[in-house]
Amino acid sequence: MTNLAVNPSILKTVPLFALFSDHQLAALFPAIQHRSYPRHSFMLRAGERSDALYIILSGRAKIVIDDGEGREVTLTTIGASEFFGEMSLIDEKPRSASVEALEPCEVLYISKPAFMACLKDNFDAAMLILKSVVSRLREADRKIASLALMDVHGRVARLIMDVAHESGDQWIVDTGSEEMARMVGASREMVSRVLKDMRDSGLIRRDKRKIIVLDRASMDQRGAVR
Ligand code: CMP
Repeated sequence: MTNLAVNPSILKTVPLFALFSDHQLAALFPAIQHRSYPRHSFMLRAGERSDALYIILSGRAKIVIDDGEGREVTLTTIGASEFFGEMSLIDEKPRSASVEALEPCEVLYISKPAFMACLKDNFDAAMLILKSVVSRLREADRKIASLALMDVHGRVARLIMDVAHESGDQWIVDTGSEEMARMVGASREMVSRVLKDMRDSGLIRRDKRKIIVLDRASMDQRGAVR
């Protein structure tokens, strides 16, 4: 991890900080560090006690829980403008999960006391955090439902619909099959079999490490919780 100088103009590019007045930002400024993490490094680990909020400026990270014996589940992946570490900040319990950089990541690290003091005077910023936590809870509810109610075909279809991004006129998934397996709670072999099946039935096409979704309507139907 490397510490970089904080550029005040960066703060204005972060949606959460756009809700703070210049006066509040000036008070917060000394409590902010600009950090840079290499790929595959852990920005925080489950179980740690810590007192800071992180906001991603660039790069992607995954949120994981492992069983200490090499098996892990990826709860979700997050990217630019998203924050993490708010749960321990709010309930003062140890970190609920680990956060690993999937790509080189630049983050703002904001120490708890200054951030909480700012939040006290800013209802809109507190609501933004609350909305994000609620949206993560909704997402977690959907995941619980899909794990309990769907077979691996359905779970992979749901995941593909969730992570596919539009590029030109194509819908592309660049999550590898190993990562997909961790996200749907299945073995890599099983996920590869499902992807082969989807390819044989014309739902997807493989292009090197990427998956191109050819039939979004059928994929959506396969991934629907009924
Ligand atoms: P905290 O518990 O402080 O440290 C780990 C962080 O991972 C947590 O705060 C959240 O920011 C994030 N996190 C944990 N679970 C989820 C989830 N299900 N979805 C999105 N983010 C999560």
